[in-house]
Amino acid sequence: MSLAPTLPRLRVLATGGTIAGAQTKGTRGYQAAAFSVEALIAAVPQLEVEQVAALGSQDMDESTWRKLAARTQAALDSSDIAAVVITHGTDTMEETAFFLNLVVRSAQPVVLVGAMRPATAISADGPMNLYNAVAVAAHAEARGRGVLVVANDEIHFAREVAKTNTTQVGTFRATARGLAGLVLAGVGDGNLGAVALAAAAEAAKNGVAVVRSSRTGGGVVERNLEIDDDRHGFIVADELNPQKARVLLMLGLTRTCDVGTLQEMFFTY
Ligand code: SIN
Repeated sequence: MSLAPTLPRLRVLATGGTIAGAQTKGTRGYQAAAFSVEALIAAVPQLEVEQVAALGSQDMDESTWRKLAARTQAALDSSDIAAVVITHGTDTMEETAFFLNLVVRSAQPVVLVGAMRPATAISADGPMNLYNAVAVAAHAEARGRGVLVVANDEIHFAREVAKTNTTQVGTFRATARGLAGLVLAGVGDGNLGAVALAAAAEAAKNGVAVVRSSRTGGGVVERNLEIDDDRHGFIVADELNPQKARVLLMLGLTRTCDVGTLQEMFFTY
């Protein structure tokens, strides 16, 4: 009788990106997606691999997304594959992770992984990221959590993760602590459902500057029209769209946290 543990079988789907990139000159320039997935997994052997695409993720398009989703689903539907790891460029990884999170139907783990430094770089982060991604994908607690992103010794949910820095290996961030401001792209006159309204009111009570803007794309969000801004301590964006409201709030918060003064800025600028 063999006492060897049965290890889960994982499939790696490769799409390119810096994790498969090769430097062309010095320590800066490089070509994304230069290495095959076989070369990549030499650092993490004993994985099944499939090259789905070989591109920089700025070129990740809908047809590649559909192919990737189909290959992911097919792997998860086959009885002998426990989880899928996807190597991907970091530039648009958050979009692909969110897309797969919405369309792939399985409780089995799907983990996206990339690298900020090409495979030939000094201190390349790809091999360790890939190793960690495989370890997460093989772990029982990764089941039922939707699509995950693993980078720089961290695990992120697809819904929350975003690339936040052009070069740093710790570029991926999820729900920030110590939030100073929050812009809500509400419906109609910057309106919110009851649950979101209660959460926003709680945030404002805890000192977060909460701005109500509208997702409609035009018009003015008025104070105290349908929502009691005075009572909740909210700021209204007036006629600024959510993107611009965010910019103004960021700048405003460098000067003051006072809700009344911030509101004046939204009426002024
Ligand atoms: C890409 O997104 O394909 C290039 C950048 C990266 O992978 O970090």
